Amino acid sequence: MSSLSSLLFLSFCFSLLFFCSISEDDQRKTYIVYMGSHPKHQVSTSSHHMRMLQEAIGSTFAPHSLLHSYKRSFNGFVAKLTETEVKKVSEMKDVISVFLNEKIQLHTTRSWDFMGLTQQVNRVPSVESDIIVGVFDTGIWPESPSFLDHGYGPPPPKWKGSCEVSSNFSCNNKIIGARSYRRNGQYPINDIKGPRDSNGHGTHVASTVAGGLVRQASMLGLGSGTARGGVPSARIAAYKVCWSDTCFSVDILAAFDDAIADGVDIISMSLGPRKPIANYFSDPIAIGTFHAMKNGILTSTSAGNDGPSSFTLTNFSPWSLTVAASTTDRKFVTGVQLGDGRRFNGVTINTFDLNGTQYPFVYAGNVPNVTGGFNGSISRFCLGNTVDRELVKGKIALCDILVPQTLLGSIEGAVGIIMQDKSPKDLTFSFPLPASHLGTQEGALISSYLNLTSLPTATISKSIEGKHEAAPFVASFSSRGPNPTTPNILKPDLSGPGVEILAAWSPISSPSTAKDDNRKLLFNIISGTSMACPHATAVAAYVKSFHPSWSPAALKSALMTTAFPMRAELNKDAEFAYGSGHINPLGAVNPGLIYNASEIDYIRFLCGEGYNTTLLQRIFEDNSTCSPTNSDQVFDLNYPSFALSTHISTSFNQTYKRRVTNVGSTNSTYKATTFAPSGINISVNPSILSFKALGEELKFELIIEGKISRSIESASLVWDDGVHKVRSPIIVFDSDPFIH
Ligand SMILES: *[C@@H]1O[C@H](CO)[C@@H](O)[C@H](O)[C@H]1NC(C)=O
Ligand SMILES: *[C@@H]1O[C@H](CO)[C@@H](O)[C@H](O)[C@H]1NC(C)=O
Ligand SMILES: *[C@@H]1O[C@H](CO)[C@@H](O)[C@H](O)[C@H]1NC(C)=O
Ligand SMILES: *[C@@H]1O[C@H](CO)[C@@H](O)[C@H](O)[C@H]1NC(C)=O
Ligand SMILES: *[C@@H]1O[C@H](CO)[C@@H](O)[C@H](O)[C@H]1NC(C)=O
Ligand SMILES: *[C@@H]1O[C@H](CO)[C@@H](O)[C@H](O)[C@H]1NC(C)=O
Ligand SMILES: *[C@@H]1O[C@H](CO)[C@@H](O)[C@H](O)[C@H]1NC(C)=O
Ligand SMILES: *[C@@H]1O[C@H](CO)[C@@H](O)[C@H](O)[C@H]1NC(C)=O
Ligand SMILES: *[C@@H]1O[C@H](CO)[C@@H](O)[C@H](O)[C@H]1NC(C)=O
Ligand SMILES: *[C@@H]1O[C@H](CO)[C@@H](O)[C@H](O)[C@H]1NC(C)=O
Ligand SMILES: *[C@@H]1O[C@H](CO)[C@@H](O)[C@H](O)[C@H]1NC(C)=O
Repeated sequence: MSSLSSLLFLSFCFSLLFFCSISEDDQRKTYIVYMGSHPKHQVSTSSHHMRMLQEAIGSTFAPHSLLHSYKRSFNGFVAKLTETEVKKVSEMKDVISVFLNEKIQLHTTRSWDFMGLTQQVNRVPSVESDIIVGVFDTGIWPESPSFLDHGYGPPPPKWKGSCEVSSNFSCNNKIIGARSYRRNGQYPINDIKGPRDSNGHGTHVASTVAGGLVRQASMLGLGSGTARGGVPSARIAAYKVCWSDTCFSVDILAAFDDAIADGVDIISMSLGPRKPIANYFSDPIAIGTFHAMKNGILTSTSAGNDGPSSFTLTNFSPWSLTVAASTTDRKFVTGVQLGDGRRFNGVTINTFDLNGTQYPFVYAGNVPNVTGGFNGSISRFCLGNTVDRELVKGKIALCDILVPQTLLGSIEGAVGIIMQDKSPKDLTFSFPLPASHLGTQEGALISSYLNLTSLPTATISKSIEGKHEAAPFVASFSSRGPNPTTPNILKPDLSGPGVEILAAWSPISSPSTAKDDNRKLLFNIISGTSMACPHATAVAAYVKSFHPSWSPAALKSALMTTAFPMRAELNKDAEFAYGSGHINPLGAVNPGLIYNASEIDYIRFLCGEGYNTTLLQRIFEDNSTCSPTNSDQVFDLNYPSFALSTHISTSFNQTYKRRVTNVGSTNSTYKATTFAPSGINISVNPSILSFKALGEELKFELIIEGKISRSIESASLVWDDGVHKVRSPIIVFDSDPFIH
């Protein structure tokens, strides 16, 4: 409740003293009541929801108590409830779960060429342009050159969505749908009502998936080249679920309810809960992606930006794709030159050019804002008003941390900032003034120059493009496995470019996120698993343009089994950083074999995870039952990778059942090859699979036995017919070091 409405509520209560129970209403919180699949023969879902609420709330029930009904693609509703009412609702017949409306966060290009998806690749434009990508994000900037619709026909006939036309927003034949969601009706003042993107993030993500070709795009000269999405002919449907303050799960579920019914083919979702949610059916994203899968729609999700610690993934359901972020071979380097001629290379995205001019240089620790009550041990971090604005004016300052852009205060009055600390240098930011970020070694040399020089000076160059010697590696920020809920399913699934990605932007948004950044840009360079996710979405859409009937699991399998293995030397968390490896768009179109899965496979898996028959029948609206032999189904879910959680020095012997479908050539014989470290034996039975027809499915078992002596051991299985190499990673790990 906002402070104004609670004031009104209070005065109302004082005048009607006996009829109001302040405590009751103050204890009400917004809950999502999830009820599984849409009942097949029910006439009015809302009136059913209304009756349930009436029963739970009793005499104080009013029609507006029902805040929202989910009724297009699955069943459920939203209401403000007390704890007692939550208990009552939870016990009702059709209810699967009741959970709080939580805040969800956003997981804030050369990339396509880097992956081999050049402008010249083979495409099926007529099919590609029938693919509709649903983007759940901060909305979209429809005037961006990436979304021009020259040459596009009308939306494909299957499209049932709509465009929320508001003030100056309208759709075209590229952006065929746009909706916005704010069920609590409290719009943040610094955002625009409706689907227009005032942040830039949604525009960036949408253009990475399906932006058209824009020649000579750059961020004020940086990253210049042709900007384009992975499937430039595909259509976009924007679902604005995130706002300048936050995103809410109520709204995200409402977008799933619509997008599935609207007819999107694939969903891109670069956001996640703040903490992993253990129960799949209390996790709005797991629920939404589940119903999408049930309707043949793959959802690509970002792994999260909470790495490099273990167990930091927030999107890990087996029916969705989880994407980690890695570098491309390009990096941006921002030079610093001192008055004595010494040069250092830092990292930032710096579009400002000081033309080599040397400016007076000060240590922030020597210029505290004394009148503000700050001393040097505080001002050295340059946060807020701790630095004396007058004493840094016209100068470059040295700061002892990477200053968050939203906490830049008086330092913004300086000519530039040089930051030094030991934080990772693979995560770069832009600032509203010339800035470079260096390590502590360079920092010490610069600090000693400042101490020993009577009139120190420095300059900061505009960033230039450099090259990563060892690329790709998973960025430090990318969330790591193991899978917090189902450790025997490997997550993330794979990695894609998520570092320093150039894509379209909203010109009304600050490119650096700092308040006083006046640059108005149509393209911006940012990093995050948020940027990696739409790359994977686009590759899945690209594969779908060749194989329109493939299931979500088949698309996932194609992406995972063709991924390039990544190097454990560069990624100490190995598969927990990159999953199957780096996404490979061209390989994914022709995977040879796929590990398919459908609803029934996930039902068996969920039975094994302890979800009972009653609950699953409601979710699936069918008569499936969990048989008693269904425990440990996790090893038999037809997943394209293998994981085993065990203990160091404990002997294990685990069997996995799998099925592969031939999608390569009619007659083909695949031989299994395994790679395992010493101490682990892997056998595959049968080790030769002979296919006689396309679409034929054959079964095999994989047995891993042995002991591990380190916390992570990586192995792999490759099915090879001489043309295709169908690779699955195998990870065996000690769950002890990961106990948290
Ligand atoms: C559309 O309206 C918003 C405010 O409602 C404004 O900020 C924006 O500049 C307008 N955009 C265009 C392209 O006219
Ligand atoms: C650098 O030179 C350019 C072109 O001459 C000029 O527009 C710009 O203002 C100069 N920048 C500074 C900080 O002097
Ligand atoms: C600087 O200020 C902080 C907090 O305001 C204080 O704890 C610290 O002792 C001060 N340091 C010096 C050297 O005065
Ligand atoms: C010092 O800090 C105060 C309050 O934090 C701020 O109002 C003032 O502008 C600052 N002074 C200078 C010279 O930076
Ligand atoms: C520079 O002087 C400051 C005190 O002003 C000191 O804390 C710092 O260690 C000195 N730096 C070097 C590299 O000597
Ligand atoms: C995978 O399974 C689904 C559901 O059973 C089926 O529709 C599809 O044809 C299968 N094969 C592929 C390649 O998707
Ligand atoms: C199934 O699970 C639900 C929720 O966990 C529980 O209320 C119910 O009693 C269970 N039913 C059976 C048959 O175990
Ligand atoms: C479930 O079983 C009942 C009774 O046998 C039958 O009438 C109904 O059609 C079945 N439903 C489904 C979805 O199979
Ligand atoms: C491991 O399990 C398989 C299948 O159950 C069995 O054939 C094999 O003998 C077992 N190995 C050991 C060392 O027990
Ligand atoms: C596949 O092999 C069978 C038997 O060897 C043969 O009869 C058939 O013609 C082959 N099909 C193709 C497409 O090569
Ligand atoms: C692996 O297999 C070899 C040969 O069959 C056997 O000698 C060895 O003991 C096995 N090792 C483990 C760890 O099971």
